[in-house]
Parts: sequence; structure tokens; C-alpha cells
Amino acid sequence: MTPPRTSMTSVSPETISRPAESHPLFPLPIPKYMEQVYWWAYIHPRSVKIFEHEFLINAILFGNYDRLCSALLDEMGTPVHGRVLQVACAYGDLTPRLRERLAPDATLDVIDILPIQLSSLAEKMPADSRVTLTQGDSSALTFPDASFDSVCMYFLLHEQPESVRRATIAEAFRVVKPGGKIVLIDYHRPAIWHPMRPLLRGIFHWLEPFAIDLWAHGIEAYFPADITPASVRKTTFFGGVYQRLVLTR
Ligand SMILES: C[S@@+](CC[C@H](N)C(=O)[O-])C[C@H]1O[C@@H](n2cnc3c(N)ncnc32)[C@H](O)[C@@H]1O
Repeated sequence: MTPPRTSMTSVSPETISRPAESHPLFPLPIPKYMEQVYWWAYIHPRSVKIFEHEFLINAILFGNYDRLCSALLDEMGTPVHGRVLQVACAYGDLTPRLRERLAPDATLDVIDILPIQLSSLAEKMPADSRVTLTQGDSSALTFPDASFDSVCMYFLLHEQPESVRRATIAEAFRVVKPGGKIVLIDYHRPAIWHPMRPLLRGIFHWLEPFAIDLWAHGIEAYFPADITPASVRKTTFFGGVYQRLVLTR
């Protein structure tokens, strides 16, 4: 069933579409790791206000915010064609910029587990009937197989426990068409000499306990066993602190 189009100017949680099997009064539950680990970043209403300042998210990324957004957008295309899925919202102007690149007949679906994040994104987006915001779980998408031409994720995987990360990647492979693209931006193991390495290790230990997995293994380690992508292309940024992975199904 195609979810109803969401008006980007209307920001009440009731206007955010939900998967067919969830009832508006009983939205999808918030995963435990979000409540326990990331409440301060995404769930608390004050956190949304605080982190929606571009200078802050740019500082968290050591000045690389714009570069990493561009790295994702440039892989999505200019213009972006077809049916596009963004898995999870992001602070800043990534999604408004993605919308601006949509070809006239392209569409963009954005899913996120938190209605507060979807509402905040809706406030940043001009009205556009090509864009749909839906509450959804990245590890259990409700879209049919092979329904998108491209899928993107921006700094999602490092926030998820291993089992959820594996399921999220498997779902991205499932919903993208054969020949379609998955574009991921996330953390990567920095070069041994990198001056930010000790600081990042401390931050991960203290605030982002699952992120260190991406230093231990490549994202490829979490691919489903039965999937071999037609191509895998990795680019690293800022001395290896960040990576872009472009996968073709
Ligand atoms: C994309 S990630 C990180 C974004 C990055 N820190 C930034 O904003 O620049 C943050 C988003 O992922 C969402 N998220 C986390 N787990 C999810 C899941 N299982 N399904 C859907 N969204 C999820 C959170 O609700 C949050 O809005």
C-alpha cells in the first residue's frame, strides 16, 4: 500500500505517515538502544533544538559537515532520478539539499523511527508532493522488495548495535532494485597517526558505544551472507575518520 503523501508544511505528528500495520495511536516503539544510548541526541525535545544548529554538527564532524553531505549528494546524482529512499533523518540541510536535486519526476521517501525527528525535518522542508516522511524502522522496512532506485544513509550504522546494523543493511539491499545504488556515509578507522584518534576513541567509549565496531571492521563485514554487491567503492575522508561506501546491488 502506498503511504499518503505528507505535506512538508504541516508538522504535527499526525501528518507523518505510518506503516500500514501500525495504528496512529500506537506508533512504532522506540528501540532500546535509542532510549538508553541516544536519548540526549535525538529523543529529548531540547536536543533537537540544540543539534539543529549547523555550526554544532559541523564542529562534531571537525568541520567536515558540508564535505560529507556533498560526498553523499554527488553520488546520488545531479539531478537525482527515480525513486529514492533516505533511511533515517539527519540534522542540518542534507535532506533539503537532496530534495532540491530531485528531477521533476523523482520521489524521495524518508523514514525515521522517531516522530520528533520527522516533525523537525518537516519544518525544514518546503511543501513538495514528491517527498514523503514515514515513521519506520530501518531494520524492518515495510517497502516491497526492489522498490527504490537508490537508498542513502548518513551516519546511521555506527549508532546501531550489531544485530540492528546487520538488519538495516540487509533491508537496504532488499528494497533497492538490481543495479540500484546504496550510498552510505559513516565513521571509519582513522589513520594511526591521526591527532583526533584518541579524542574520538574517548567520545565513542563515553557516548557512542557501537561506533567503535566501524574501526574494527569494514561495513562489508555486516553485509548479508547471501548478497554479493555488483560493485563496492569506498572513499575515505579526513585522514580516514570518515568513509563513503557506494554499493551497486
Ligand atoms: C541518521 S542518524 C545520525 C545522524 C547524524 N548524527 C546527524 O544528524 O548528522 C540519526 C537518526 O537515526 C534515527 N534512527 C536510529 N535508529 C533507527 C532505526 N532503527 N530506524 C529508523 N531510524 C533510526 C534516529 O531517530 C535519528 O533521527
